[in-house]
Amino acid sequence: MNTKKLIIGNWKMNPKTLALAKAQFSAIKKEAGKYKMVSVGISAPYIFLPELSKMASASLFVSAQNISSEKEGAHTGEVSSDMLSSMKIRNTIIGHSERRALGETNDFINKKIKSALRTKMNPVLCVGELERDSGMWYLGFVKTQIEECLAGIPKASLKNIVIAYEPVWAISSTENHREATPADFQEMKIYIQKVLSDMYGTPVHVPVLYGGSVDEKNAKGFLVEGGADGLLVGRSSLTPKKFVSIISIAHAINQNS
Ligand code: 13P
Repeated sequence: MNTKKLIIGNWKMNPKTLALAKAQFSAIKKEAGKYKMVSVGISAPYIFLPELSKMASASLFVSAQNISSEKEGAHTGEVSSDMLSSMKIRNTIIGHSERRALGETNDFINKKIKSALRTKMNPVLCVGELERDSGMWYLGFVKTQIEECLAGIPKASLKNIVIAYEPVWAISSTENHREATPADFQEMKIYIQKVLSDMYGTPVHVPVLYGGSVDEKNAKGFLVEGGADGLLVGRSSLTPKKFVSIISIAHAINQNS
């Protein structure tokens, strides 16, 4: 397993123009090359991927934010994993909470993961509960997400999968969002590994990233105290300076460990 921390910026539906996307990407790329102890990617809108993938390098890869559950055919507006693979896009987010909010179910996400794996793409599967109130129900909620999203996925394919735990209540765009703590993440990471080990009958180690209002102030806590294998960064990835600070923090942690 790659022990480098994995830092992915999820640009969501930003920025407004290709010119801005290229400028942001190149500002990040220029700095990312200095930090070798970390793997860095940008998950950009489909329409920017062809241009950004020409600019990608060993220090900065490009990722999609979603893929179709289908192979080809009458699916207006969809983009298949064959299409992405043909453009050398090897990574994609799948099951982000903002897509689940549009109606994506665990079964649908399961088909998308299978679709990605069919062309040897690497999915980042997003899971996370909507709320945190009293009780421990959120653990069962995430367990069901993992069991249903990974149903029928052979153990051998897990090496291509990354899980991102993104509690919706901690995402910056959620109304009245609250900050999750490294302890919140650590509990969930241990639990996710237990769920996977129970599913597959042996201990399995899938990297687990944290996402939700990550910035240059809280990144270290999630990576060190929380034990995150990396970070999925939304808003802070749109400001190259902030995103590069997060990359440098992840690099320093690996370098010193
Ligand atoms: P923020 O970092 O803006 O909270 O977004 C998190 C996220 O949804 C990344 O996928």
